[in-house]
Amino acid sequence: MSVTEQPPAEGSRDTDAAQEALHDRIAADSLTTRRDYLRIVATVSGGLAVGGVAVASGILHRHGDGDGTPEPKKIADRILPGESLAFRYPGDEDRAIAVRMADGTLAGYSAVCTHLACAVLWRKERGSEGELYCPCHEGIFDARTGEVTAGPPPRGLPKVLLIEQLDGSVWAIGTARSGESLQEGLCRQQGDALRLCRGGAGAEGERSERT
Ligand code: FES
Repeated sequence: MSVTEQPPAEGSRDTDAAQEALHDRIAADSLTTRRDYLRIVATVSGGLAVGGVAVASGILHRHGDGDGTPEPKKIADRILPGESLAFRYPGDEDRAIAVRMADGTLAGYSAVCTHLACAVLWRKERGSEGELYCPCHEGIFDARTGEVTAGPPPRGLPKVLLIEQLDGSVWAIGTARSGESLQEGLCRQQGDALRLCRGGAGAEGERSERT
């Protein structure tokens, strides 16, 4: 053995062993941290995916899902042409939007995007009638019908039936699901209590839901 290959002294062996133990521990900790991080990422993205699928497949509550008859609710004293109004209907958690187009037509919709449930906004400067716009993934809905005109939403917006009283006040009186006409939605909720529903409009609505 040469001079440069002296066996390590006792104290030096202890130091090496301690350093090795420390490295092992750091490696184990960082492995645990990495594993935890990956688990968190997987849980969060799994949650988002499940949420998206739940919305897309209709598991989560949406407008018009309730079986009961919504109570009429006054939402504004007046809505002028070009104006929009955010309100809640039929429940306190149900975001909705009313728009008055330039020609005076009043329309009401759920303000919950049918893609991943972001809030839908009114862009009145778009086109001659404006449009309902979801900023999350550029979803666009026709202001007059609520149907999808662009982007990923899988179906049109559920509707809120609005009526205007002689004094100009605006009331929400019912809802219709995506693909249902306002009359079909109203008759599904009111049954034969309304004359316009006697003769099968509600039944027609039920048939169109099943198809
Ligand atoms: Fe509205 Fe995606 S959530 S377009």
